[in-house]
Amino acid sequence: MENPGLCGLQVNVPCQSFPPTNQPNGSGVFPPESTPSQTPAAVAGWNAVEGGSSLRKSASYSNGLLISAMSTVAVSLLVAVICCIGWIVYKKRCNNYNQVLHGNGSEANVGSMLVMFHGDLPYTSTEIVKRIENLDDTDIIGSGGFGTVYRLVMDDGCMFAVKAIGKQGTGSERLFARELGILGSFKHRNLVNLRGYCNAPAANLLIYDYVPNGSLEQHLHELEAHQEKLSWTARMRIAQGSARGLAYLHHDCCPRIIHRDIKSSNILLDDCMEPHVADFGLAKLLEDNDSHVTTIVAGTFGYLAPEYMQSGRATEKGDVYSYGVLLLELLSGKRPTDPFLLKKGLNLVGWATSCIRENRQLDIVDAKCVEGVSQEHVESVLKIAARCINPEPDERPTMQWVVQMLESNTVSPCNSDLSTFYNSPMSDHANNNTHGR
Ligand SMILES: Nc1ncnc2c1ncn2[C@@H]1O[C@H](COP(=O)(O)OP(=O)(O)OP(=O)(O)O)[C@@H](O)[C@H]1O
Ligand SMILES: [Mg+2]
Repeated sequence: MENPGLCGLQVNVPCQSFPPTNQPNGSGVFPPESTPSQTPAAVAGWNAVEGGSSLRKSASYSNGLLISAMSTVAVSLLVAVICCIGWIVYKKRCNNYNQVLHGNGSEANVGSMLVMFHGDLPYTSTEIVKRIENLDDTDIIGSGGFGTVYRLVMDDGCMFAVKAIGKQGTGSERLFARELGILGSFKHRNLVNLRGYCNAPAANLLIYDYVPNGSLEQHLHELEAHQEKLSWTARMRIAQGSARGLAYLHHDCCPRIIHRDIKSSNILLDDCMEPHVADFGLAKLLEDNDSHVTTIVAGTFGYLAPEYMQSGRATEKGDVYSYGVLLLELLSGKRPTDPFLLKKGLNLVGWATSCIRENRQLDIVDAKCVEGVSQEHVESVLKIAARCINPEPDERPTMQWVVQMLESNTVSPCNSDLSTFYNSPMSDHANNNTHGR
C-alpha cells in the first residue's frame, strides 16, 4: 500500500533497473516508476530485481553516510552551544560573586556605606573601602554558617577579619544597622572587637579585629605535627577568659546578649593564647533581620541545651549549657559529637555523665594535659562543667558564678557532689541527649 514503486516476483510486477543518476530524493524515498518499460532487463524480471536491490543498497549506504555526517555536525554544534552557555553562566556567577563583595564598579564607592564604630583607626573610609574592593578568594580565611571570612590587610600591615553576610532577608536595613551599632559598642578583652561594617550592594561586611592564633577548635582537634597540645594552664586560661567574655555579654551589656552559638570554633586565640569570644549577637541579628523567621534554632548540635532544642527559645542558661560542653571539650580534648562516642550512642555530655555516675570522672580528662596537676583541682573544674550541663536550666549557675568558681577554683558547698547528682533520675536526660552535627 502507498508504495507504487514496489516490484518483483512477489507482487508480480516487473522491475526497471535504476540508472546511476536515479538517486533517492531528499527524503530518502525513491521516485515512483511512472511507466514500466519493456527493456530486456524488464523482461528479465527477476534479474532486474537483483540489480535494483544492489543499487538500492549502495544508495542507502551513501544515505547512511550522509545522515551520520549530518548527525556528527549537529551533535558537535550542540556541544559547542552547551559549552558557550556553560561559560556564560560561569562568568555571570563569578561576576555575581564578586559583586557580593565589591558591588559593581562605581557603585562600590557610591552604593557601599562604611560605618566605623570606634574612631581610633588611622585610616580613611576610602582607604578601607578600597581595600575591601580588592579582596578576593586568596584572602579567604574560612567560612561558617553566617558567611565567608576574609583577611583584610592595610598598607601598614594591620589586619582585620571581614565577614561577608549575603543579603537574603527582606528585613530592615536600618534595624540591622542599629543592632550592629549596639554590638559594636561592646568592648571587652575577651570578645572579638567589632570595628564597623560596610553595607555593600549585595552583602553586609562586618569588620572585626583580626585574631591571629586560630580557633580553639583548631588547637584541640586540628593540630599540625609541629604544634603542641594545649597545656593545662593554657586550657584553664581559655576557660576563664571565655567565661568572662560570656559573663560580660549576659550581665554587663545593655541590652544583654545571648550568644546562642558558643562552641570551640567561636573561641579565637590571640598571640598570648588569650581567648576572644566571636560571633556574639549574630544569631539574633540575622533572625531579626529576616522577617520570615520567627523561631530559629541557631547553634551547633552537641552544644545545644535540651530545652533550647525543644522550644527554640534562647536564654542565658542555654549559653551556660553550651559553655559546660565547651569546658568538657577543653578537659577531654574530645569533640561534643566525637565519632567514637557516637558509635556507642553517646555524645560528649552523655559519656561524661556516665563516667561521673560510675565514679570514673578522671577518665574524662585528657591524661597528657593533667600531668603534675592536683586531682582536687581537676575534679573541681569537672564539677563546674557538670553543673553547667545540668539538664534543668534553673539548676545551672550563671556565667558570673562560673567565672567566680573558676577564678577561686572552689565549688560552693551548697550543691550536692557530682556522683550524688548524677545518680538522680534527672540525669537520665543527659544520656538520651545525643546530638549529631
Ligand atoms: N576575627 C577573626 N580573626 C581571625 N580569624 C577569624 C576571625 N573571625 C573568624 N575567623 C576564622 O574564620 C573562619 C570562619 O569563621 P566563621 O565564624 O565564619 O565559621 P565558624 O566559626 O566555623 O562557624 P559559625 O558560622 O557557626 O560561627 C574560622 O576558621 C575562624 O577561625
Ligand atoms: Mg564563628
